[in-house]
Amino acid sequence: MERRAIVTGASSGIGRETVRELAKEGWRVLAVARREERLRALREEFADQIQTHVCDVTGEGAAEAVLAAANEQLGGIDLLVNNAGTSWVGQFADMPVADLDRVFNLNVRALMRLCQAAIPSLEASGRGQIINVASVAGHLPMSSLAAYCSSKAAVIMFSNVLAKELSPRGIRVNVLSPTGTDTEIFEKCGVTVDPVHLVPAPDMARLVVVMTQLPEGVDLGEVVTQKRLSP
Ligand SMILES: NC(=O)c1ccc[n+]([C@@H]2O[C@H](COP(=O)([O-])OP(=O)(O)OC[C@H]3O[C@@H](n4cnc5c(N)ncnc54)[C@H](OP(=O)(O)O)[C@@H]3O)[C@@H](O)[C@H]2O)c1
Repeated sequence: MERRAIVTGASSGIGRETVRELAKEGWRVLAVARREERLRALREEFADQIQTHVCDVTGEGAAEAVLAAANEQLGGIDLLVNNAGTSWVGQFADMPVADLDRVFNLNVRALMRLCQAAIPSLEASGRGQIINVASVAGHLPMSSLAAYCSSKAAVIMFSNVLAKELSPRGIRVNVLSPTGTDTEIFEKCGVTVDPVHLVPAPDMARLVVVMTQLPEGVDLGEVVTQKRLSP
């Protein structure tokens, strides 16, 4: 049976690898992000399975536009992976309001709006699922990451509540909380992390696939990850 997914933040990191992993498993995917050329390159890897939608998901009407694109190009959806996310590193006392808005508008508001817009299509699927990407930072009070940590804590609580509300409607909601993963996010925030401490992005993306393969009567709630120490 055909399976169809939306993945946001598909132009790099965990999102791009999630698109690849889902495509390898036979899913048709609508890959969403702002960088068109990145999405085009991804589509060329799996021509028949990947469609693209270029947009800023924080924009007015963006959630509805993403769902309209998915309904038109995939004929509906069975999975929404809300992965697009951003951060800002520094003392909260010095955080510009524009960066505070950027972090919360993407990590929380856009994610919530996409969930809302996706409910009718996921309900129509009969086996609909939402995977919201939070972070271990949603559980850890990390200095210099006040907005990021609190935005991810909001994603976790929002997802827990939504899971209860949507369960009677046949839609699962689960959270993937990555630990440090080797992506562009650190460079974008102006920090350097030794890759030896990070999980490869394709490994994190595999977990998304695992989360789509749960037995009918079992949910995970949240998958909190940690890097396995080398022997
Ligand atoms: N890497 C880690 O250590 C780590 C740990 C825990 C959680 N996470 C979470 O994992 C998720 C993926 O992050 P990543 O590490 O893979 O980072 P990344 O490589 O920087 O990817 C972020 C993605 O989000 C997209 N994006 C950013 N702003 C957007 C907007 N306004 N509209 C649409 N798309 C937007 C970017 O694409 P465009 O710029 O092309 O739009 C990009 O595809 C995030 O939610 C992050 O918080 C990451």
